[in-house]
Amino acid sequence: MMFERGFLQSSVFVFFFVVVHYTHGDLSYSVQEELKRGSVIGNIAKDLGLEVGRLSARKARVDMEGNDKQYCGVNLRNGDLYVAERIDREEHCGEKPSCVLKFDLVLENPLELHRLSLQVQDVNDNAPIFPKDIIKLEITEIAAKGAKYRINAAQDADIGTNSVESYILQQNPHFVFNIKTTSAGSKYGELVLDKELDREEQQEMKLLLTAVDGGSPQRSGTVVIHVIVLDANDNAPVFTETVYTATLAENSPINTPVITVSAADVDEGFNGEVTYEFSRISDKSQTLFSLDEKTGVIGVAGTIDYEEGAKYEVFVEAKDGYGLSSEAKVIIDVTDVNDNAPLIYLKSLTNPIPENVSPGTEVGIINVQDRDSETNRQVRCSIQQNVPFKLVPSIKNYYSVVSTGQLDRELVSDYNITITATDEGSPPLSSSKTVQLSVADINDNPPVFEEQSYSAYVSENNKPGSTLCSVSARDPDWRQNGTVVYSLLSGEVNGAPVSSYVSVNGDTGVIHAVRSFDYEQFRNFKVHVMARDNGSPPLSSNVTVSVFISDVNDNSPQILYPAPEGNSFMTELVPKAAHGGSLVSKVIAVDSDSGQNAWLSYHIVKSTDPGLFTIGVHSGEIRTQRDIFESDSMKQNLIVSVKDNGQPSLSATCSMYLLISDNLAEVPELKDISYDEKNSKLTSYLIIALVCVSTFFLTFIIIIMGVRFCRRRKPRLLFDGAVAIPSAYLPPNYADVDGTGTLRSAYNYDAYLTTGSRTSDFKFVSSYNDNTLPADQTLRKSPTDFADVFGDCDDSPEVGTYFK
Ligand SMILES: *[C@@H]1O[C@H](CO)[C@@H](O)[C@H](O)[C@H]1NC(C)=O
Ligand SMILES: *[C@@H]1O[C@H](CO)[C@@H](O)[C@H](O)[C@H]1NC(C)=O
Ligand SMILES: *[C@@H]1O[C@H](CO)[C@@H](O)[C@H](O)[C@H]1NC(C)=O
Repeated sequence: MMFERGFLQSSVFVFFFVVVHYTHGDLSYSVQEELKRGSVIGNIAKDLGLEVGRLSARKARVDMEGNDKQYCGVNLRNGDLYVAERIDREEHCGEKPSCVLKFDLVLENPLELHRLSLQVQDVNDNAPIFPKDIIKLEITEIAAKGAKYRINAAQDADIGTNSVESYILQQNPHFVFNIKTTSAGSKYGELVLDKELDREEQQEMKLLLTAVDGGSPQRSGTVVIHVIVLDANDNAPVFTETVYTATLAENSPINTPVITVSAADVDEGFNGEVTYEFSRISDKSQTLFSLDEKTGVIGVAGTIDYEEGAKYEVFVEAKDGYGLSSEAKVIIDVTDVNDNAPLIYLKSLTNPIPENVSPGTEVGIINVQDRDSETNRQVRCSIQQNVPFKLVPSIKNYYSVVSTGQLDRELVSDYNITITATDEGSPPLSSSKTVQLSVADINDNPPVFEEQSYSAYVSENNKPGSTLCSVSARDPDWRQNGTVVYSLLSGEVNGAPVSSYVSVNGDTGVIHAVRSFDYEQFRNFKVHVMARDNGSPPLSSNVTVSVFISDVNDNSPQILYPAPEGNSFMTELVPKAAHGGSLVSKVIAVDSDSGQNAWLSYHIVKSTDPGLFTIGVHSGEIRTQRDIFESDSMKQNLIVSVKDNGQPSLSATCSMYLLISDNLAEVPELKDISYDEKNSKLTSYLIIALVCVSTFFLTFIIIIMGVRFCRRRKPRLLFDGAVAIPSAYLPPNYADVDGTGTLRSAYNYDAYLTTGSRTSDFKFVSSYNDNTLPADQTLRKSPTDFADVFGDCDDSPEVGTYFK
């Protein structure tokens, strides 16, 4: 409402004022824009010559054409024209160089109109202004020097010197700023590249461009020029190292990372995308290593074996998206791992080795190899303990296998020599090899008989060809060196070659009798048997074989006295005064056998007066059993049987004629008491018998005399001893074996001695007594007793049965 009323009023007054104005003269003032309200522009009262006091009454006022704004006012009390409203030159005049505001001064009563020109002078009240706060420029980094980038000029509403006068570009290394004027006269700025950009150095920059005017005080406006440097692929990737070194243990598993190569490309985006690949790589390395093209990780792709390659060199190329590349070398040192056991090679071997090699002989050569390196290939070699061999280190990793002791094939014929090689890695690896070595035979052992000596026992009358015993010798040597052949050593037995007695089987060592032996001829003999091997030269040894011939009861007792039955005409005289127990006669018999076979026993098988005479069972002595009576028949006839103790026993009988008489003249016709067997050839025997009887009788008489003489002291001593038989009775071939071989006749034969035995002449064993004989009058000896006596013999059973 207020506004509308004011507008109406002023319209009315303008009209009126214009009229007045043209009636009166103009006033002109100059005033600076933007003065404070109330600032005094001039004094219209003075300038117009008006009464100050009247101004109020005349309602002095200032109107402005076409504008309801009261820029100026009149102080009615003193006539001062003052600034009533901010006057902005730029608002009213823009860029016009001169700016005049026209007012009307209106006075009423009477109406007076004065034109007021107000020259508004510019004041630098506007700063230069850029159209935008930020100017964004994207400049590729490869932009050449001198490249120009247009920048819109800053505007300044002020005019003249108060308008934009110059531009100041913030100090920077790359750009300068120029002002250009177009042909149309308008101005613009140019950013000129003075030095090439490098995105990698500086990706963007903000440059402050300041436009300053020429006013005073000076005003300025700024704009930020934001330069973004666009990337160009101007950089190749660059490796962090030119040479990469990595160590890798052998046998590292597949995909083990070895090393990571890295190249940086300062470009960005695709330009800076680096990929890796092997540029130069051997075919072998190609199989062993992989390269991740994105990460640059080199990994294990194959089996890394130090022994096949200890060092690898590969070249890696790094490429960016557009193919700029660079190369680096990667050295991969493989470190050794103790993964190879030592290997033992047998280079030479003497096999078999003769058992007589001297200690220290080289038997073989081995070579030890380990493919590892350094300490992993240091190898120690050893041989197991229990063999007579050792290892002697030779040049490099060669060793000699040397014998350390005497070898004996007969003890150990082959060796398994185990050689162990251990390296010094950690953990150590070892391997072993077994070498088989045989020992070759040398004929170094003679055959050795199993017994020191052999004894063979054979009964006489053996069959020729019967086995006596067997000898056996062992030879531990090999094959023919240990093959034993037996043979007899030549020699003589009783003047005949030994081969006529025995033979030996060369292969088996069984000794055979060649002939039948007769105990009564010889009782033992010795032969020497040699065992020889088939070696070259042969070795031999010999042994003594004693052959003992044992008796067989093949001879019947031979009665020497009296002459055998039927041929005897001998008569013994028995004194009538003979007391009981007197020795009357004696039957003398011999047996060419020996032992039990020659052990004779005497029995009276028939007698005229059975109670009168007895015969000593073993002595053959005929004694009276009682005193002789007158009533006894003068002629007494005894038939005596002599038996040996053999099995079966053999016997002989004889007749004994006894005449009880003190006078030979009483003796009846001999024919009467003889049996009536008259053979003419017996005559000679008769004569011999007579001589004997006479001799015996004479002897008997002498003995009787002696008995009578001694009777007072030892009445029964006569004939208590043995009757001595002269050795002339013995057969000529009867030989004592005393002192030959193991048979000691002093023991063996004396034990069986009887008065009638031919085996001993005048030999009596003091311990011998009839009472010591067993009741059955048979000597029993166990086979062991026998063996004790005869020494050991394989053939003892034969003898044992013989004596059963
Ligand atoms: C040696 O080894 C072989 C085979 O391994 C075996 O037959 C033989 O008995 C061994 N010899 C010795 C003396 O150990
Ligand atoms: C027997 O010994 C000799 C040396 O005494 C030797 O040369 C030969 O080879 C040996 N024979 C056998 C079969 O071992
Ligand atoms: C029999 O052996 C002995 C030693 O045992 C020896 O002295 C003798 O010479 C050998 N005789 C023969 C013929 O070999």
